[in-house]
Amino acid sequence: MRPKPKTKLCELLNIKSCQFQIKQLQTEDMPKVIEICQKIFLGMGSIVDDPWQTEFFTDFQYSVKAVSFGRIIGCYLLCPSSLDFDKEDYTFYENTENYKSKKGLFGNVLALKPKYHGRGFGKQLRNVPLAYPFDYIWGYHLKSLNNLDHWTRFGRRVIAESNNCYMTLMDLGQPNILDPRTE
Ligand SMILES: CC(C)(COP(=O)(O)OP(=O)(O)OC[C@H]1O[C@@H](n2cnc3c(N)ncnc32)[C@H](O)[C@@H]1OP(=O)(O)O)[C@@H](O)C(=O)NCCC(=O)NCCS
Repeated sequence: MRPKPKTKLCELLNIKSCQFQIKQLQTEDMPKVIEICQKIFLGMGSIVDDPWQTEFFTDFQYSVKAVSFGRIIGCYLLCPSSLDFDKEDYTFYENTENYKSKKGLFGNVLALKPKYHGRGFGKQLRNVPLAYPFDYIWGYHLKSLNNLDHWTRFGRRVIAESNNCYMTLMDLGQPNILDPRTE
């Protein structure tokens, strides 16, 4: 029986760091990112159905792409923005008044191509804003995604709800992890 190699091929070839990277998103990445997101959220009535709106709520200073062997495989689109305090059609479950003086970050779209799920890449993407200098992060979650538990386990709390979406928020403390972006 052949002995199990101690070093993985990618390490031998010194390409480990190329396997998965989180990089700052560039304007020219948007068509590819939107294509990936549209496939994932197909028919759900998500923001990515409207590329103009998706880009409007994407700040290239904070948004990131996930890259594997030079190809974009996912993204976390982020944008500095206060939460929608008076969002029509939403029932609020808490008084958000004290957030009016705080610095908010809107988590617009988090997505990773399905074949890369379950390897910890999505988690790394999800952690990116934890290193950013904001007081809180918030976002919408389509009920049809059925993933609210994932977000509440992570630390988000439901602050409001509409017929088809939850609005969640998480306080961000001082930067607590290193910025995982590689460039
Ligand atoms: C969300 C997503 C990027 C996570 O990537 P992943 O590769 O599945 O997750 P990983 O294996 O890297 O990490 C697992 C963590 O992600 C969370 N997670 C898994 N699937 C998730 C999902 N569909 N939505 C939100 N979080 C999810 C898990 O709770 C887990 O967290 P924990 O380890 O703290 O318990 C990926 O599942 C995805 O693109 N899903 C489709 C799009 C989507 O639902 N985006 C969120 C919109 S609100």
